[in-house]
Amino acid sequence: MSILDRFKLDGKTALVTGGGQGIGRGLALALAQAGADVAIMDLNEETANKVAQEIKEIGRRSLVYIGDVTVSKDCNNAVEMIINKWGKLDIAINNAGIGNWFDAENYPEEEWQKVIEVNLKGVFLCAQAEARVMIPKKCGKIINIASMSGHIVNKPQNQTAYNASKAGVIHLTRSLAAEWAKYGIRVNSISPGYIRTPLIDSEPVKKMVPEWLKMIPLGRLGEISDLQGIAVYLASEASDYMTGADIIIDGGYTVW
Ligand code: NAI
Repeated sequence: MSILDRFKLDGKTALVTGGGQGIGRGLALALAQAGADVAIMDLNEETANKVAQEIKEIGRRSLVYIGDVTVSKDCNNAVEMIINKWGKLDIAINNAGIGNWFDAENYPEEEWQKVIEVNLKGVFLCAQAEARVMIPKKCGKIINIASMSGHIVNKPQNQTAYNASKAGVIHLTRSLAAEWAKYGIRVNSISPGYIRTPLIDSEPVKKMVPEWLKMIPLGRLGEISDLQGIAVYLASEASDYMTGADIIIDGGYTVW
């Protein structure tokens, strides 16, 4: 088979959490363009439905599950919906995530908890639900969205919960990869740097961008499209010998 054919996802089914906007939407559309049917799990019904429509316009099937990744019942139900409708789940991108900024000494406990719950527990609960249906098939690709913040400490903003949660995602990925290799399930993560999403245009963030740009060797923010290639690679059989890896896509931020 030619190398480009090994990147194709025709006949595959996928789940993308937090796929209603931003990076999740971009990765969901990338999987669909590569040939997969893609289900979206998100809290926001309106945006999730819009992305599902975009997937249909690409010519693939799509489903929407409105649910919370921090609730195991929701994760299980999302996967069950896919199995009931499509019969199998080949690919899962655990992308839903949140952040907040507080100085460590004044971090409100409930704000810390929120970030860890969504970013770390949410990834685990989704991966668990996904693996339970992948294990009997002896194959599957799980892709967790971590962050360069799992490798470095961002500045000037203080975000210990986010940084700790993303470092957790990277090591959770390795742990699951080790446990599930015997079932043919590959588990890898992607660590994006600063990506230009609507969040970047919000007031508190906007004023920090010039400072961030000085710390990025490539001299620009990442685009969502900069992450699409790696997602398709990790979802496809071209990456069959890769598991437990974390791929940093950050314009070189972490090398300085
Ligand atoms: P976003 O805020 O634009 O989109 C997140 C999506 O997840 C939304 O549709 C939201 O409704 C959904 N969501 C949030 N909590 C949820 C929950 N509990 N259950 C189900 N869905 C939920 O975020 P963005 O920027 O697209 O980020 C996506 C992922 O990429 C996150 O894990 C984030 O930490 C990570 N990331 C983002 C970077 C950036 O520069 N934007 C950089 C590095 C990592």
